[in-house]
Amino acid sequence: MRVHKPYVIHEEGDRSFIWLGLDESDREKGVLTNQYLLRDGDRGALLDAGGYFVFERVLNSIQEFVKPEKVELLLYSHQDPDVVGALNLWVDMVPNAKIYVSELWERFLPHLGYDLGGVINDIPDSGMRIPFGKSYIEAIPAHFLHSPGNFHFYDPITRVYFSGDMGAAIFPKDRWYLMVDNFDEHSKYMEAFHRRYIPCKRALDQWLKRIELLDIKIIAPQHGSVFADDNVPKFLNWLRSLDRVGLDLLD
Ligand SMILES: [Fe+2]
Ligand SMILES: [Fe+2]
Repeated sequence: MRVHKPYVIHEEGDRSFIWLGLDESDREKGVLTNQYLLRDGDRGALLDAGGYFVFERVLNSIQEFVKPEKVELLLYSHQDPDVVGALNLWVDMVPNAKIYVSELWERFLPHLGYDLGGVINDIPDSGMRIPFGKSYIEAIPAHFLHSPGNFHFYDPITRVYFSGDMGAAIFPKDRWYLMVDNFDEHSKYMEAFHRRYIPCKRALDQWLKRIELLDIKIIAPQHGSVFADDNVPKFLNWLRSLDRVGLDLLD
């Protein structure tokens, strides 16, 4: 099994969006996950930091770019174990970080064995701008995609849109790549996930409309591969064309 090193996906001045590597042997421990660091100078924001098994690799990877005490934000898209599972370890290792998560999930997180201690910030349903470095990160509502309290995170400087579970791909055993090249082939690895985990087409359509005006260069999902440039509209059009998802499958 291969280990892949962290990779700077896109950079604008001293603001960079960094994928934090992968140990393919993690495949045995559950679905593969991506973690990302948004860096602004010497400060960091960690997106969907992940579960217990990836904690050590992610912590080592961020230290190639920023000091742990300079990680200012832990941003969480939703409450799943592959997203928040190592939160109680992170609060010790990045002691200056503020945590942001949907107001729906804040009261559930202490069950991870973590003392709230006033560092959790609720993201209201309508979303918010979270100050970061010389600019901000926008928490974009993406409710029911797939969690009822669900956010994506958009950086207006690098124009990277972190899409959580939207865009998730599940690869066969001997297949993996970081950047999407052949979209048609890649869509086959995404279809089953989106049909079952996205509860309804209405949520999908509302979100697609919401992000229409954003200037997006890159879409980075929490599972699978990253969409850049021409593959961004291809991915959004593919979602638009999905007819039956979630509840529709009950008919
Ligand atoms: Fe999820
Ligand atoms: Fe996930």
